Amino acid sequence: MEKLVIQGGRQLNGTVKTSGSKNSALPLMAATLLCNSGEIKLHRIPDLKDIQTFSKLLVYLGAEVSYQANTLNISTSNIRCVQAPYELVKQMRASIYVLGPLLARFGHASVSLPGGCAFGPRPIDLHLMAMEKLGASVTIEKGFIEAKVKGNRLRGVQIDFPVTSVGATGNALMAAVFAEGITTINNAAVEPEIVTLCCFLNAMGANIRKIGTPSLEIEGVDNLNASEFTNIFDRIEALTLLTAGAITGGSITVTGADPAQLAAVLGKFEQTGCRIITDTGSITLESPDMLLRTDVIANPYPLFPTDMQAQWIALMTQAEGVSHVIDKIYHERFNHIPELNRLGAHIEIRDNEATIHGPRKLTGTKVMSTDLRASACLVLAGLVAQGVTEVLRIYHLDRGYERIEKKLNSLGAAIERVSYQEFV
Ligand code: UD1
Repeated sequence: MEKLVIQGGRQLNGTVKTSGSKNSALPLMAATLLCNSGEIKLHRIPDLKDIQTFSKLLVYLGAEVSYQANTLNISTSNIRCVQAPYELVKQMRASIYVLGPLLARFGHASVSLPGGCAFGPRPIDLHLMAMEKLGASVTIEKGFIEAKVKGNRLRGVQIDFPVTSVGATGNALMAAVFAEGITTINNAAVEPEIVTLCCFLNAMGANIRKIGTPSLEIEGVDNLNASEFTNIFDRIEALTLLTAGAITGGSITVTGADPAQLAAVLGKFEQTGCRIITDTGSITLESPDMLLRTDVIANPYPLFPTDMQAQWIALMTQAEGVSHVIDKIYHERFNHIPELNRLGAHIEIRDNEATIHGPRKLTGTKVMSTDLRASACLVLAGLVAQGVTEVLRIYHLDRGYERIEKKLNSLGAAIERVSYQEFV
């Protein structure tokens, strides 16, 4: 296994470029399954474990996939299997994104149930509800979701999601691309990753309207054509890098990023006393002498993202006063807190609310990553902790951050990646 060894206490300054978005790349890759001829080129795809896992899944289904210099070439003309196996789905829940496109193109899809998640229950009922509404029969057999089109083709229909879900919106969209007539998705997710998926599908010939609104309209088409498309930047990576500047009292510019997509968090940085300067495609954060306590509530886009909640808690350990962080999306996503407390933080959790008493002097020790964003939070804490912090099990981090230690080191951090063996 590998760990990051962080020599804390260095101020981070400088300019760093954002990578392509993981959460956008995965549905784009799934959408290639809808195209039955030609080669699709996807640019700005980050070099990450999750991208490799999704590529393996596409290859398992029969696709040809090659990856070079952040560009994926995918041909899905010869898909020979419609089953996503447990071994791949358990590594990455986003594998469920193949359900909608396989069902739409082949009339049948079989996807292993994803199993547990490190931060509480993550049901898939809304994905299944959408497939059923569109005219599929959905059963669970031997641990697999079996979805089959009743009749010749899925049928356009109105889907009303009771809860906003990024994944279920993406799956419903992809399933509806070939459905007969018009599908309306109400309470659809409006995340930039969903907007990007719509744009890619339309670039291939789909007819999706009201993009970026919570009421998407999809008029079914007969087929899609291969196309070339550039992915968006990773907004969570950009915000994590800015947090690295803020937590160490430095000044950081991230480039290749659209400030408009980060508005909710940039506003929160300003409340902490940070100065935010935006330009076309770049954001600069300048730290104050002392960070001010700032409460956040994680909610669907355009509000504060749950994927930044853990990093914000790390930041608030260094802010003056008592702050509160509530997660309204994942009520149990707080595995990072006991680890932060081991570094010397003073944080209490009650239900889905963390109370952070700051500022606290953190002291380096060994801490354990439990999920992707929790790992990022521990790395941030390690940057400001006195002495050496070792963040173990960083395979979680590698799922979602492209060369994070290299990026942070280029800003002045001292982080080493080291192989180790865990005691059993
Ligand atoms: C995506 C992101 C993840 C992010 C999350 C919320 C990817 C690959 N992952 O996950 O990083 O943390 O959005 O912004 O893009 N829900 C149901 N039933 C369902 C589906 C979801 O009740 O069938 C609930 C979930 O439990 C959660 C809420 O809906 O409370 C939002 O989850 P959702 O948007 O679906 O998350 P993902 O798409 O899985």
